[in-house]
Amino acid sequence: MSKPHVLVIGSANIDLVTRVPRCPKPGESIIGLSFSTVCGGKGANQAVAAARLGAETYFAGCVGDDAFGALQRETLGREGIDLSRLKTHPVESTGTAVILVAEEGQNSIVVTPSANYGITPADIQDMTPLIARMDAITIQLEIPLETVEAALRKARELGVLTILDAGPAQKVPQSIVEVAGIVSPNETEAEAMTKVRVESIEDAREAAFRLMHQGAREVVLKLGKMGALYMSANEWFHVPAYEVKPVDTVAAGDAFTAALGIAWQAGSPLEAIRFANAAGALATLKEGAQPSMPAREEVDRFIYERGR
Ligand code: RIB
Repeated sequence: MSKPHVLVIGSANIDLVTRVPRCPKPGESIIGLSFSTVCGGKGANQAVAAARLGAETYFAGCVGDDAFGALQRETLGREGIDLSRLKTHPVESTGTAVILVAEEGQNSIVVTPSANYGITPADIQDMTPLIARMDAITIQLEIPLETVEAALRKARELGVLTILDAGPAQKVPQSIVEVAGIVSPNETEAEAMTKVRVESIEDAREAAFRLMHQGAREVVLKLGKMGALYMSANEWFHVPAYEVKPVDTVAAGDAFTAALGIAWQAGSPLEAIRFANAAGALATLKEGAQPSMPAREEVDRFIYERGR
């Protein structure tokens, strides 16, 4: 079988990660347990995941002309990712994410996009021949929304599958929801888009229903330890998560999104979501964003051992 071709359009950040016993309250100082600097960014994480899952992977984004940007280039290059569409911003510094990881693996993230805003609709126009050759495109919301919309529109014109990872949480214009192939928020992102607080499968179903009402064609809601929920005009179903003991949930959603992009056209939505659930679960078992993205063999072995 030939390798799927996947283009990821999105952010590349350096993650400044502190492990904490618990997240501090407003105004409180606490002592951290450890600190690390890791390559991250939703876009770059998804590119690493796609490459490790066996796709011919292209990454389009923008880093700064600085040490963090050089580190991202080197790390992504080592994964065999095509970086011909990764720009260098002349002025802005590479994006950063300040991340707190609490002991039970939950996280809080503050992203400063900086150079990530350097990828523009004109860049998307220039990428038309590349977009036309893709099997799937994944895109997130840490780059300008007009660029997101231009990419989704171009892919739709060319009949290429797109997955909109709707993070970080924000109100997303209807023009973007309508043109995306699959809209895929997590619980907090779904709440920002629909005002439904997602704490149960029933809530998730209601949020997905509202997204369909906003014009989404297909919705895959990422629900962490509750699994994922699929909705289209014809059906909806819930896919339970694999049970794991997470050490760090950062970028688990990115592993999920990349896996979904790779598996979507190979089988049914149910099979694709199971594969994505497995990739997401495996990503929680290692620390750090890009270092935790699983390889294809790990996901296949995990599914084989755990059963469907
Ligand atoms: O999805 C996790 C990612 O979100 C982190 O790597 C951070 O950089 C932010 O983009």
